[in-house]
Amino acid sequence: MPVLPKARPLDRELARRALELVEAGTTEMAESVLRVPLDYYNDPARFAREQSLLATTPLALAPSCRLPSPHDYLVRDVLGTSVVMSRDGDGKVRAFLNYCRHRGARPADGCGNTRRFTCPYHAWTYDSAGRLVGMPGAEGFAEVDRGDYGLVQLPCEERHGMVWVVLTAGAPIDISAHLGPLDDELAQWDFGSYEYLTEREFESDVNWKAALEAFAESYHFPYVHGNSLIGQNTIANTAVFDPFGKHYRLGFACPWIVNARGKPDPGPPLDSMALIYWIFPNLVLAVSAVGAELIDLLPAGSPTRCTVRHGWMAREPSTDDATRAGYQALYEAVHAAVRDEDFAMLPTCGDAIRHAQHDHMLIGRNEIAVQHVVRTFADALGFALP
Ligand code: FES
Ligand SMILES: [Fe+2]
Repeated sequence: MPVLPKARPLDRELARRALELVEAGTTEMAESVLRVPLDYYNDPARFAREQSLLATTPLALAPSCRLPSPHDYLVRDVLGTSVVMSRDGDGKVRAFLNYCRHRGARPADGCGNTRRFTCPYHAWTYDSAGRLVGMPGAEGFAEVDRGDYGLVQLPCEERHGMVWVVLTAGAPIDISAHLGPLDDELAQWDFGSYEYLTEREFESDVNWKAALEAFAESYHFPYVHGNSLIGQNTIANTAVFDPFGKHYRLGFACPWIVNARGKPDPGPPLDSMALIYWIFPNLVLAVSAVGAELIDLLPAGSPTRCTVRHGWMAREPSTDDATRAGYQALYEAVHAAVRDEDFAMLPTCGDAIRHAQHDHMLIGRNEIAVQHVVRTFADALGFALP
């Protein structure tokens, strides 16, 4: 990894930097273009290594506001594994493999609030802390200690308003260490106080890392989002970029940032910017003054298929129907842009990964965050870039 400048704090300097770029008609840039071999996207051996990486790296599987109360739970299918997250009676969030210890059926389904997960096959019952608390016909299992047959627990930690899980039982978990310099930055947002609104999931025929790239630059905005609120509320190809170890923060200026021209104080960043975080390896958080989008990208069984989960949470809890309707309308607009604009384009890139005969993709100096993503994965997966 090249030595990158230390990230600057989330203060008004960010808007000043963005305004300077707007005035100069430029963006923060990498030192040179980056040539990315196509096998970064499509090599089966690398794809297998990615699966191992994803199985041993903490993934933010849900925002805390998805599980606000004791006994709230949520099932997610993650890389083909069924995981149930549950807030136990003491308020601690735990994650389990959602496979019954009898013969493997799925005790939990969907989401909701329950003190008991009852397996649909023979009605073994687990509590919200994953303990086996009931089995019909218990005399058939008389010599078995129920304490040994709770749901298999996965490493799980709640931090900065996210539920982080490692998909490998018994693996270590240390979210502060995982976040490194981003730990303090995320703490500033207090995402734990946000209100969950909704989410949708779909699949797309594109490599999951190529899909991440679409959230790492605003170069494509006029062409892909020219007619939607993303294109209209941002100045294209103009971004402030700060690496935070593996992760990054990217700031896009809004057109009204020019109102701060000549003023001694450009104001807080969210008054005139949208901020995007990439949390290695698979989560994009797009933060605006109103709320945050969660864009979670994972491979779906092949190098050119991915799962997209797009959720939204509000900074201020909605106190009335009109506010909630406003949040929903905003979500619908950004979701339409992601689904019908980004993910209308991206499968064509997936097709190129399957069929193109050029040997590399070319990432511009202006696509500095895309370069960061590629270099970070190369580093994490142990291969050299040319
Ligand atoms: S498989 Fe769950 S009770 Fe039998
Ligand atoms: Fe986009």
